Amino acid sequence: MNNVFIFDHPLINHKIAILRDKSTGMKEFRELVEEITIIMTYESMRDVELAPVDVETPLEVTRQYRVPEGSVAIVPILRAGLGMVSGVHKVFPNAKVGHIGMYRDEKTLQPQEYYCKLPEGIQEKMVLLVDPMLATGGSACDALTALKKRGCKHIKLMSIIGAPEGVNKVAREHPDVQIYVSTLDRCLNENGYILPGLGDAGDRLFGTK
Ligand code: PRP
Ligand code: URA
Repeated sequence: MNNVFIFDHPLINHKIAILRDKSTGMKEFRELVEEITIIMTYESMRDVELAPVDVETPLEVTRQYRVPEGSVAIVPILRAGLGMVSGVHKVFPNAKVGHIGMYRDEKTLQPQEYYCKLPEGIQEKMVLLVDPMLATGGSACDALTALKKRGCKHIKLMSIIGAPEGVNKVAREHPDVQIYVSTLDRCLNENGYILPGLGDAGDRLFGTK
């Protein structure tokens, strides 16, 4: 699958080890998600298109290359994806943010879309769809379909932890999307949780359980 990139970066793995620990509290969990997302954003943007600009240094004018203003948008999958927005914003402070609300039905594990609000002109932007957990892949696949239905053409998906089942499903159903995962875990349990995983990312980010 040439649209899947597993980082396996030693420093990200160091942070993920702390993230997984059940004794890591909400504040530290949120900070780690932000820090990991900053590194992931740099790594996933190696092919970002730059535009030429002339910059006047104190010594001379030089031709340089910058990311065009407004060319990147962030779309978190609610709720847990919200935890990654501040990390992307550290790299692209002016990126507009769309929201897609999905929840997994706890019995069927099927994702249900309950909200979608996207910034104007998103169709022409590079869209970074973010969700820390890629489990069965149902939520990510449906969110990608929702974005494409609304005209988005250039999409990257960033997830901190992926299960093989979910990564394979998204890669198969959306071969045009680049999928970035920091670490690939072993499998899913019978309730659709990633093993070893980190538990429920939304609950740990927002203190709801
Ligand atoms: C979690 C997670 C993903 C989804 C992954 O969200 O943030 O969106 O599960 O599972 P999947 O790959 O099997 O679809 P959840 O539905 O628990 O909602 P929440 O973010 O509101 O907690
Ligand atoms: N969603 C989570 O938050 N954690 C999992 O392990 C699977 C889905």
